[in-house]
Amino acid sequence: MPAIGLGTWKSQPGEVYNAVREAIRIGYRHIDCAFIYMNEAEIGQALSDAIAAGEVTRQELWITSKLWNNAHREADVLPALRKTLSDLQLDYLDLYLVHWPVAHQPDKVGVKTGADFVPLNEVPIAETWRGMEAAADAGLARHIGVSNFSVKKISDLLQTARIRPEVNQVELHPLLQQQALFDYCASENIYLTAYSPLGSGDRSAEMKAANEPSLLENPVINDIANKNGCTAAQVLIGWAAQRGTSVIPKSTNPGRLRQNLEASNLILAREDMDTIAGLDRHFRFINGQFWAMEGSPYTVASLWDE
Ligand code: A2P
Repeated sequence: MPAIGLGTWKSQPGEVYNAVREAIRIGYRHIDCAFIYMNEAEIGQALSDAIAAGEVTRQELWITSKLWNNAHREADVLPALRKTLSDLQLDYLDLYLVHWPVAHQPDKVGVKTGADFVPLNEVPIAETWRGMEAAADAGLARHIGVSNFSVKKISDLLQTARIRPEVNQVELHPLLQQQALFDYCASENIYLTAYSPLGSGDRSAEMKAANEPSLLENPVINDIANKNGCTAAQVLIGWAAQRGTSVIPKSTNPGRLRQNLEASNLILAREDMDTIAGLDRHFRFINGQFWAMEGSPYTVASLWDE
């Protein structure tokens, strides 16, 4: 998996086609997608056109997508994956992830009330995982993994998994370093992918907490950027890659796409890495509050097991 990938959450229809085409032209080979981003068909057209134009081959690309919460029953996993493959115009994914340890009623893509959820004791992750294993067996997903999983949820899953999860994609950045999860995943040979590495400033207002900190404007990050002659975004991306995670900054802007990929050239000094280690505040931009509405069987505490 190439360490720096292109995030596509919040990339708008009408924009994401050009973003993916430009990203591939300038050298991105890893694209992070999901059913729920509602843009996989447009991304698929960009992938298909880039391949047809001879800019890249399928084999050179690493394409990740994610199973949505309304398809957690074993029998629903393959149909959901086939829909994603058809939208992406692919015959296999490099990586398919269980997007959240949260289940919805099958007819509820979005949730409005607590009744739209299904508790995990009714559709256990172990059941969903059997569907993921079937996807791997069928060759439709070369690798399978999870997203937003705690140490506890991964260790529970490892009790019953026939095929081990290879990746856990979680929010990671200097304000949320998750060192215990990082160490646990390393010990289990599970590779971490860092989402929202720049703080996802383009989230809708409802998804933002009051007085959120800014990663891109963090003075310590900016001092390190000035010292290294690069941008704050490049420090954040370079830090993630140097820490040994893959990282998926989202952009639809050609200049920032290039800047973000070029962060792979940055080598941060040990003292800069140590300074960044001191910024950890266990602060989540994506706090999962949206799964904890009144009447939901999920709480923020049960989601993260903390
Ligand atoms: P844009 O798409 O206009 O470039 P995250 O990856 O944490 O979800 O953050 C995505 C947000 O960060 C988007 O608003 C994106 O805007 C912005 N962004 C992406 N790359 C950079 C960069 N190099 N410098 C500043 N902002 C960036």
